[in-house]
Amino acid sequence: MPEQTFTRAAEVIPSEDSVTIRGWIYRIRKMKDKIFVVLRDASGIIQCIGQEDNLNPEAWKMLNEAAIENYIIVEGNPVEDNRAVNNVEVKLTDFKLMHKGEIFPIAKDKSKEFMLDNTHLFVRSFQSTNVWKVKASVLRASREWFFENDFYETTPPILTGSACEGGSTLFSLKYFDSTAYLSQSIQLYLEALIYSLEKVYAITPSFRAEKMRTKRHVNEFWHIEGEEAFVDFEGNMKIQEDMVAYIVQYVLEHNEKEFRELKRDTSVLESIKAPFKKVSYKEAIDTLNENGFDLQWDDDMKTEEERALSNIIGEPFFVRDYPSKHKPFYVKLHEDDPKWCYSADLMAPEGFGELITGGQREDVLDTLVRRIQEEGWEIEDYSWYVDLRKYGSVPHSGFGLGAERLTWWLCGLDTIQETLPFPRTRNRVYP
Ligand code: 4AD
Ligand code: MG
Repeated sequence: MPEQTFTRAAEVIPSEDSVTIRGWIYRIRKMKDKIFVVLRDASGIIQCIGQEDNLNPEAWKMLNEAAIENYIIVEGNPVEDNRAVNNVEVKLTDFKLMHKGEIFPIAKDKSKEFMLDNTHLFVRSFQSTNVWKVKASVLRASREWFFENDFYETTPPILTGSACEGGSTLFSLKYFDSTAYLSQSIQLYLEALIYSLEKVYAITPSFRAEKMRTKRHVNEFWHIEGEEAFVDFEGNMKIQEDMVAYIVQYVLEHNEKEFRELKRDTSVLESIKAPFKKVSYKEAIDTLNENGFDLQWDDDMKTEEERALSNIIGEPFFVRDYPSKHKPFYVKLHEDDPKWCYSADLMAPEGFGELITGGQREDVLDTLVRRIQEEGWEIEDYSWYVDLRKYGSVPHSGFGLGAERLTWWLCGLDTIQETLPFPRTRNRVYP
């Protein structure tokens, strides 16, 4: 028997030829002698009309029994109809109810909590589907960029004994007879791998045991991290801006339909080109103070301040040369004034704020050891990392881009939680 071929819902065009489509019922409206069914598949939707006169009795009976989210296979003739989506409607000649199942519980009037309890069903919504598609593009475009720029994809562990981003956000777990952590960032391992491959990257889940619930934090996210030998602070920012500009261009080219359906105004995205604007931390503080804040040069910029700055500047920009005391042990300190360091955050405009943290890594052995101890770690737990500065140490830099932060901004969503099919937050690891 030849394999049956199916036309995708969004690709149905008016034609003499009959089409067969499979998917789920998105909407259904039953009248006495005709029934409108909107079929949904991964590509989109297609309106179908079933009339008693055109269907055999069994098909008409099944159509009458059908309900939202049932799995169906339909056959019919696609004709032009400018009242339907895509200006086409399928006049059914056959209808098969493949799986009826139970009444679908998701409805508009349900509470947020109910929706979260039913995330496994809610992932079918159009809003979600559009976001998953943009996110798939973000991951794909970043891989393409790395590939085209001669980076090797690597696979560092996410079960680790060495914290990277401070003790307060570590998830620890029993690892046989000892303790291990879930990775906050695989940066330290990438730093080891540059000695064999020079240009490396990895896309892995990262975990942060942050207790607060905000629009921009989740406890598990996908981290796109790159590290490169012989690259300094300036070179590292160039890599980041080229890559982000590439991803923005990619989604504009491939996700026009998704942005339209998400009602995302893409004009800000369309004007994005590398190089990006760069402001020093001191300049950023000055700008904020000119806009009603009252901050010192070495104060820690909080979310509210970052958001304000992102709205004021109105395009992607780097804040560079942070106060060393706000950055982890691995960041290289300025040679002339160690109060400042070679660390930069790439900020998205429109109030979204930080997308990337990156910078040059400390390669002065004594400074690195002192900074690890100042953070309160046992140097034995980092001896492997310190070793990297003992054998052929080279200047090197890297960065970490949060796939969800980027998708959140690109789609212009209310919260970052919407960019994950099953967001992990303080109160939720189920479903
Ligand atoms: O700024 P972070 O903590 O930097 C690092 O982890 C470095 N070790 C990266 C590196 O140099 N390889 O995290 C990097 C990025 C942030 O800019 C943000 O996009 C994302 O990871 N991120 C989060 N995204 C969602 N929820 C959270 N709780 C996040 N924490 C960080
Ligand atoms: Mg950061």
